[in-house]
Amino acid sequence: MNRVDLSVSIGNLHLSNPIMPASGTFGYGQEYAGLIDLNDLGAIVSKAVSPLPRPGNHPPRMVELKGALLNSIGLQNPGIDGFIEKKVPFLQEFSPPVVVNVVGNDLQEYLQVVEALDPVQRVNGFEINLSCPNVQKGLEFGTTVEGVAHITRELRAVTQKDLWMKLTPTVPNPGELGKAAEGEGADALVAINTIGGMTIDAEARRPVLGAKFGGVSGPAIKAVALKYVWLLYEAVSIPIVGVGGIFNGTDAIEFVLAGATAIQVGTANFVNPTAMPDVLHEIEAWLEQHGESNLRDLIGQAHRTQGVATPIQNH
Ligand SMILES: Cc1cc2nc3c(=O)[nH]c(=O)nc-3n(C[C@H](O)[C@H](O)[C@H](O)COP(=O)(O)O)c2cc1C
Repeated sequence: MNRVDLSVSIGNLHLSNPIMPASGTFGYGQEYAGLIDLNDLGAIVSKAVSPLPRPGNHPPRMVELKGALLNSIGLQNPGIDGFIEKKVPFLQEFSPPVVVNVVGNDLQEYLQVVEALDPVQRVNGFEINLSCPNVQKGLEFGTTVEGVAHITRELRAVTQKDLWMKLTPTVPNPGELGKAAEGEGADALVAINTIGGMTIDAEARRPVLGAKFGGVSGPAIKAVALKYVWLLYEAVSIPIVGVGGIFNGTDAIEFVLAGATAIQVGTANFVNPTAMPDVLHEIEAWLEQHGESNLRDLIGQAHRTQGVATPIQNH
């Protein structure tokens, strides 16, 4: 029995704790099953699923930078059939809710994935990837209010299961995009995805990644993600799942204070395979040390304990 209550609810899903993997950094769970107990997670979020298998981009596809990872995996995945045949039977062995990350080149492809997986038992919800900076065709449905509203409305019409919209970080108006998704029936928002970037090999005088551009993740994007979660919390009432550079319990607590109901651990899994249970234990220890018995009491608390407002210069 936990000494502190870490349980949270997102839409129709009840999570025993707020920790889950960030899509794409945990495969479909198999690689980590020998390292951590998947039943200890609050939820399991899969790597992307698209209608047909995708081979991903040319190598190199991952480069370590200062305080960051740059990847251009290109949403490599086994497609709907491969996911149902090879991944679902494994995921069904575990108790946490399973949320499937969905990608497509156009609206029809997103609908195809959600419609095909909607009847699958133990698929409890969908996380809709509205932006991935390293796919050539550019998943940019997520950059306009109309685009987000449209795709949310269409997907809401084909599933009763939980619908999480994973928003693109590269917009000036996250609150408006969040409201658009909420207005069309999304159960939660997830923020943020990687931020587009590149790196160049000075000796070779060319880009390092095979795909030239990739997505930046890890500690370097934590401040960006925190601000995004903060702005979403001010704009919407549905739960927010925070993600971006979370490496320890204090990082996670910061996201909760900014407004996140749950958090995802991504790049940290590559550095430390037990990052998720470690973060969970550190959250629990933090709450105990601070005399808190319920994580939910902290959600958005920093909005209510801001100091005297002073004009802030952004640059
Ligand atoms: C190698 C890699 C693969 C990823 N694949 C996906 C994906 O398939 N779908 C998705 O929505 N996000 C994907 N992401 C983005 C992560 O889910 C997460 O939003 C991002 O990495 C920020 O979190 P982090 O700083 O904790 O890694 C990927 C990230 C990395 C590093």
